[in-house]
Amino acid sequence: MADTQFDVVFVGGGPGGYIGAIRAAQLGLKTACIDKRGTFGGTCLNVGCIPSKALLKSSEYYHLAQHGLSDHGFSLGTVTLDLPKMMARKDKVVGDTTKGIEFLFKKNKVTPYKGAATLTGPNSLKIALNDGGEETITAKNIIIATGSDIVGLPGLTIDETSIVSSTGALTLGAVPKHLVVIGGGVIGLELGSVWQRLGAKVTVVEFLDRLIPGMDGEVAKNVQRVLGKQGMDFKLGTKVTKGEKGATGVTLTLEPAAGGPAETLEADVVLVAIGRRPYTDNLGIETVGVQLDPKGRVVVDHHFRSTVPSIFAIGDVITGPMLAHKAEEEGVAIAELLAGQAGHVNYDVIPSVIYTSPEVASVGKTEDELKAAGVDYKVGKVPFSVNARARANADIEGFVKLLTDARTDKVLGCHIIHAEAGNLIAEAALAMEFGASAEDIARTCHAHPTVAEVVKEAGLAANGRTLNM
Ligand code: FAD
Ligand code: NAI
Repeated sequence: MADTQFDVVFVGGGPGGYIGAIRAAQLGLKTACIDKRGTFGGTCLNVGCIPSKALLKSSEYYHLAQHGLSDHGFSLGTVTLDLPKMMARKDKVVGDTTKGIEFLFKKNKVTPYKGAATLTGPNSLKIALNDGGEETITAKNIIIATGSDIVGLPGLTIDETSIVSSTGALTLGAVPKHLVVIGGGVIGLELGSVWQRLGAKVTVVEFLDRLIPGMDGEVAKNVQRVLGKQGMDFKLGTKVTKGEKGATGVTLTLEPAAGGPAETLEADVVLVAIGRRPYTDNLGIETVGVQLDPKGRVVVDHHFRSTVPSIFAIGDVITGPMLAHKAEEEGVAIAELLAGQAGHVNYDVIPSVIYTSPEVASVGKTEDELKAAGVDYKVGKVPFSVNARARANADIEGFVKLLTDARTDKVLGCHIIHAEAGNLIAEAALAMEFGASAEDIARTCHAHPTVAEVVKEAGLAANGRTLNM
């Protein structure tokens, strides 16, 4: 019979759980990882980051083939959409990526379990195996990495056909004529972009009077302007009070968030993207006495320890941004802590990227946060239009905005809108991790011609100097 006593068991095989399990096994801990989904990779690989990015890339190419190439001196004639093929490519990307985790588990000697886990004690778990039967395992340490789940809106029952969550929006069988997105956050803008590029009219209804709350205000305004130019409509400061399904779609009733007369809006498909909730359903949390906060997140201390000493939690199910790389960092940190090392996550330097076109990327403090905290700061802001490579690539939309401490010149935040923003933000994150100044960035030789030169120029601009503008 297989040995079922482990040093550490990760419940949940998403970016937090599977990365943490690999690291723990590499450090010599006898490790298992359990997921009930049937494939490892969690929300991110199965119904999140990866399928959405596959569709973003395909739809970007489709749009480019239709509208973006004539300036380069050629056209493709009539471009037709084969949606089932696009979806099949996305599914293959997901399948290949999730299979890769099973390979990594084998390579690193992590024991995988496919089934739903329930906590039965501070050191024991029961697994209802997907293939039938039940298994009980014990562990010196249990890590809750059960992630998050979609949330619905009262009165709008998600059926994944005409009223969809992000999961349904990744598998629509046809391009809707009118897609109404409720929530102008990350999912709304990314998946709204996908369907807009494929031909849908997209209207985003957002409760607040701005998009992407939490991102720098100036950046958010520019994102709205750019996406608006692409044809996306925005109804800000608006709430949906009712949704009625008819034969051909959904009739939504909207009201100004501040109160006022109602209006109706017809949609073929409604995407509800108003945030996600931490997920601990049927985990047996109550049985073992793990405490949750009022938002349903597992309460943990600085070392991820819950209110039960042998049980820890990481990723979307605890406080902090619901991002795959944040969950991964926490997975590595908890594995290292359990192995007696000094695992640590620097929460001041967690980049976040919205994969629209152009992309929007951010790390560190926003200008609004620095103002509110009374910090004396400088801004180095440089548009991509001054950059030769951006012009050669026809990617001049956007800017780098570097925020630095006025006294020490230390980088406090960086916000980028550009086609390559997601890759470029890594330089600012590295600078912040090393406590670099704007002067350090400006003195670092950047290859020419690259769009990364704009980050260097922003380093100069923060100190009142520029070379290219
Ligand atoms: P999850 O990935 O949610 O994994 C938890 C796993 O636990 C699940 O597979 C679940 O089946 C399993 N589980 C739960 N309970 C049990 C149980 N009792 N027994 C066994 N298994 C259980 N983040 C980014 O950083 N970049 C992106 O581009 C990005 N894009 C996204 C796009 C979409 C559409 C969505 C929805 C999310 C996106 N995210 C993105 C967020 C990202 O997916 C999450 O932050 C990340 O997956 C969290 O990882 P996790 O390990 O905490 O949990
Ligand atoms: P979100 O928190 O990014 O945005 C939700 C939006 O909905 C907010 O703007 C909010 O004000 C609005 N809202 C809330 N209630 C509303 C209502 N009743 N009516 C209208 N608007 C309402 O959440 P989203 O987009 O659902 O994404 C969930 C999580 O997934 C995010 O935390 C994000 O971090 C993660 N994610 C990350 C991605 C990335 O890193 N590229 C991509 C997709 C998701």
